[in-house]
Amino acid sequence: MKFFADTADVAELRSLAGTGLMDGVTTNPSLIAKSGRKMSEVIAEICSITDGPVSAEVTATDHETMLKEGRYLRAIAKNVAVKVPLTEAGLRTCKVLSDEGTPVNVTLCFSANQALLAAKAGAAFISPFVGRLDDIGYDGMELIADVVQIYDNYNFRTEVLVASIRHPVHVLQAAKLGAHVGTMPPSVIRAMMKHPLTDKGLEAFLADWAKTGQSIL
Ligand code: E4P
Repeated sequence: MKFFADTADVAELRSLAGTGLMDGVTTNPSLIAKSGRKMSEVIAEICSITDGPVSAEVTATDHETMLKEGRYLRAIAKNVAVKVPLTEAGLRTCKVLSDEGTPVNVTLCFSANQALLAAKAGAAFISPFVGRLDDIGYDGMELIADVVQIYDNYNFRTEVLVASIRHPVHVLQAAKLGAHVGTMPPSVIRAMMKHPLTDKGLEAFLADWAKTGQSIL
């Protein structure tokens, strides 16, 4: 399973890249706004931090302007993936950009039928939002199970990119379902490293080691 970092905070991305656990990055207009920076500059900097796909989202709602924005964003760096919303204009844009060889991430997916349409439009990634479904009383992971099954049934090459991940249990569930990618805030990746028995065990090992008076180097 690949891990993408869901942030436009370059300091956080540099720190996470050093762990070797980050396979790509996703951004959205809200995350770009939070960075307080010009979009083209922050996307270019993120693309210099990772060789993996970096999703940059269009903000137009009509097909023609989406296409122009997508081509502009794609030209920023070779690892940009253009992100489009799951609307009719977004799917049309996905088809054209995908046919041109641009990887497209179709976002704001909340149903399995939407995911089926994105695959038919040639999307490289589909982003079903599990956290936002959970927030309104649905089970986001049921959607992931459906999409994984449908894509398997027809050997679609579109990767299931589980989005709106809020905590490590979402990652575990997505991994058990065989989702290709999870995008999450860096804090979730770090939370996955933690276990109280790891901390307790390490503390005991170091205490015993100190009693020996030795040092390895
Ligand atoms: C990623 O592509 C999505 O934009 C992101 O995961 C949304 O997460 P949120 O629901 O926590 O805003």
